[in-house]
Amino acid sequence: MCGIVAYVGPKDAAPILLEGLQRLEYRGYDSAGLAVVNGKTLKTRKVKGRVADLAAAMPARFKGGLGIGHTRWATHGVPSDLNAHPHVDADERIAVVHNGIIENAAELRRKLEADGVVFASETDTEVLAHLIARTADETSSLEDAVRLALKSVVGTYGIAVVDAQRPGEVVVARNGSPIVLGIGEKEMFAASDVAALIRYTRQVVHLEDGELAVLKADGFHTFTSDAMETAKEPFTVDWEAGHYDTGGYEHYLLKEISEQPETVARTLSGRVDDRFHIAHLGGLNMDARETRSFRRVKIIGCGSAYYSGQIGAQLIEELARIPADAEPASEFRYRSPVVEPDTLYVAISQSGETYDTLAAVQELKRKGGRVIGIVNAVGSAIAREVDGGVYLHAGPEVSVASTKAFTSTAVAFALLALHLGRVRDLSPADGRRICEGLRRLPDQIEQILKLDEQIKALAQSYANAPGMMFVGRVRGYPVAREGAQKLKEISYVHAEAYPASELKHGPLALISPELPTVAIVPDDELLDKNLTTLGEIRARSGRILMIGHRSAEQADDCIVIPKNEVELDPILLTIPLQLFAYHAAVALARDVDKPRNLAKSVTVE
Ligand code: AGP
Repeated sequence: MCGIVAYVGPKDAAPILLEGLQRLEYRGYDSAGLAVVNGKTLKTRKVKGRVADLAAAMPARFKGGLGIGHTRWATHGVPSDLNAHPHVDADERIAVVHNGIIENAAELRRKLEADGVVFASETDTEVLAHLIARTADETSSLEDAVRLALKSVVGTYGIAVVDAQRPGEVVVARNGSPIVLGIGEKEMFAASDVAALIRYTRQVVHLEDGELAVLKADGFHTFTSDAMETAKEPFTVDWEAGHYDTGGYEHYLLKEISEQPETVARTLSGRVDDRFHIAHLGGLNMDARETRSFRRVKIIGCGSAYYSGQIGAQLIEELARIPADAEPASEFRYRSPVVEPDTLYVAISQSGETYDTLAAVQELKRKGGRVIGIVNAVGSAIAREVDGGVYLHAGPEVSVASTKAFTSTAVAFALLALHLGRVRDLSPADGRRICEGLRRLPDQIEQILKLDEQIKALAQSYANAPGMMFVGRVRGYPVAREGAQKLKEISYVHAEAYPASELKHGPLALISPELPTVAIVPDDELLDKNLTTLGEIRARSGRILMIGHRSAEQADDCIVIPKNEVELDPILLTIPLQLFAYHAAVALARDVDKPRNLAKSVTVE
């Protein structure tokens, strides 16, 4: 949510900042801005709109080897030139970019206004610029000015600050919103996401909550809010700049959908043991005895991560026979959950930065819960917070709508379920069946991707419906939920998901020729029940698009995909729904990769 980038070094900062902001635009894209320091002069430029609008608005000369930039997802104040970051103090000496929310901004603003400060924007961030400017007059260094100013701030932040009176350094701080430092050759970078750094360096350092850093061209040092120095070990990011390109595809989303045969293969790589029909998940840091000791599994995540958790809960109950359920992390964290010692908690997050999920993990840890993570972004906040876990190895996911990370998470859950099952009662024969099924997934995804033209034609013919119903039973229900989520977030077509069994208890009243239904109908023990539901919809003249393993006369249209083991079928059933949503969004001329009102990583409450 919002993107930050900062640079200090011998080169001109502006082009580096603009390039970084383009890489971060998926995190927020309603306005953008940057500030550079040249000599002892601060220059800022900011606009409502995209990073491309900012680039177009840049004057020819915007020199300076120190700078900060921001791309915004509005929280306080509408998207506008004035509300765009950076924000500056009255003397235009201090400039600040900020991700997060300052909770006591109104109170701080009142105090500052009472002292004669005039505000230029409606944002919470601007209070930081004025506070730091005041402290800067009384302190000998910018790091102390920022550190002391932050003592009066309540809320979450990732910030980068420059001071025209102290050229040659940028100060960054983290509390709840990610900040990562990039170490270059006689130059330093900082950003809210490694995506902005990867073109320049792969040596990075993550700040922890409550940590600050001073960056100068020749290095950095980190310290706590009490001015205690901290020791940081840089690590090498293995994602490459090319991962952040569209690779010849029209959209990142299509690229990421198409990558799934390889990304699923990477999630599985080295983890399926065909000799003993088990899964190797060394990152869990648990021996067999401990793995056996759990009597329940509780899965938490947000949005699509939560839906993949529902697929995971089903897999764990089926393969390991342990009661398991999934809950939105955003709800879990607020309801003072009962944390049990014999429950295994699983936090899911593609970005590893989703604030609600991170806060839920922290609450669990405070209460002594055993938490593992299923995370894509290596070294991210959630990955660092959990006791162990499974990395997806799906590569960076740039499009706001999650696709390859969703699929890889479901695959990781299949591995976890196999692992939990084989230390309990899952037989070697069933273990072997699942291992073989897992190995078939990449090829089967490849086959589903070949249905693209058929799915595109169907999406075009359904795209103008005023709304769509998605239904599925048991294993099919989370698939229906994710299908509805994909459609609504990128095409803005209203989409509701219901358990197929619940239709007759109310939503059937909505069925009419104007409201088509997408029905998830795998060839499993519930096939007949699902076909009965389709008959009920058809009897009310509802149009039906069925996703399954065979055609059925009850449906108007069918997408037939390859069959795997019944437990693993949900992983495959989701793929055509991703393509369906993508093509519907394209048909409706939506901004596929940057849907309105959304941002990739939701790092605010
Ligand atoms: C998915 O398409 C969404 N954009 C969103 O629901 C996302 O899955 C959710 O915000 C969680 O993100 P995370 O996996 O990075 O934690």
